[in-house]
Amino acid sequence: MSELLDRVARAREGALGRVGEATSTDELRLVETEVLGKRADLIELRKSVGALGPDERRRVGQALNEARAEVEGALAARRSDLAAEDRRRRLEAERLDLSEVVPSRRLGHLHLVSQAWEQLEDVFVGMGFTVSEGPEVETEWFNFEALNFAEGHPARDSFDTLWVDWGEPGQTLLRTHTSPVQIRAMLATEPPLYTICPGRVFRQDTPDATHMPVFHQIEGLVVDRGITFGDLAGTLEAFTKAYFGGEFTSRLRPSYFPFTEPSAEFDVLRPDGSWLELGGCGMVHPNVLRSGGVDPEEWSGFAFGFGLDRFALMRHRVDDLREFFAGDLRFLTQF
Ligand code: PHE
Repeated sequence: MSELLDRVARAREGALGRVGEATSTDELRLVETEVLGKRADLIELRKSVGALGPDERRRVGQALNEARAEVEGALAARRSDLAAEDRRRRLEAERLDLSEVVPSRRLGHLHLVSQAWEQLEDVFVGMGFTVSEGPEVETEWFNFEALNFAEGHPARDSFDTLWVDWGEPGQTLLRTHTSPVQIRAMLATEPPLYTICPGRVFRQDTPDATHMPVFHQIEGLVVDRGITFGDLAGTLEAFTKAYFGGEFTSRLRPSYFPFTEPSAEFDVLRPDGSWLELGGCGMVHPNVLRSGGVDPEEWSGFAFGFGLDRFALMRHRVDDLREFFAGDLRFLTQF
């Protein structure tokens, strides 16, 4: 009798142990047949009960019933734990992992010059400017003539033009600056005009640490009533603070460009006391306004043109411009 009770106790222990070991709902289903199915110890033991006297039959029967109820309870509890676990695992596996873009972004990013291009656009758009575009292959008229470079003007030579062998000789070129877009913008839109034009420009130059035959500029043009040199200086100072930060200031130095009068060079003073030359600017020459179909008696304006690559060089403390365009991934992926 006590031997039978021991067997019930052992069968109960064994069954509870198997239930605890199951690690998935599928496995638990198999365990259930194993511990409560027809061939299970706890079930087989019932057969022995019939041969016992009434007292013992009651006690063993009760022990079996209790064991069975306990195992059923354990099965139910384990089933609900495993179901929750399955669900958690499925959600985990099926989760839309939006951070998945992170590793692929590490494999590629915008070129440093494109980043500077976009940042500059953002700052000027934030100041109310629109973004204009113009072609890289230009006519002599847009690149020079309309910008008040007289025929044979020595300033033309300083641009080291790359000519394109197309149409009349000397009429087609790769734009040497983004300034022709000033004319295109004026011809396309009635003033008032507040626009910038970032773009690629070309000059016959031998590559060195600060020059490339293909480089980038960002042009700015404002045409409105009563625009003064003070507006130019104020706009460039506001730009300096917005782009570089409050610790930077700007200065203007007298200069010369055929398309602006007066003209200036624009420099930024860095917190370490050094000056960075960024480009030229000035009040739009009346002849240039006229080329753009704008009446200089009614309207005035200013323009500026910065070397865009310099912004990227400075931002990333790179000292050789050639690195940007060598296409060496070991260099580019550092940033
Ligand atoms: N286009 C001039 C250059 O390439 C820069 C400039 C633009 C100067 C606009 C004045 C006004 O050097």
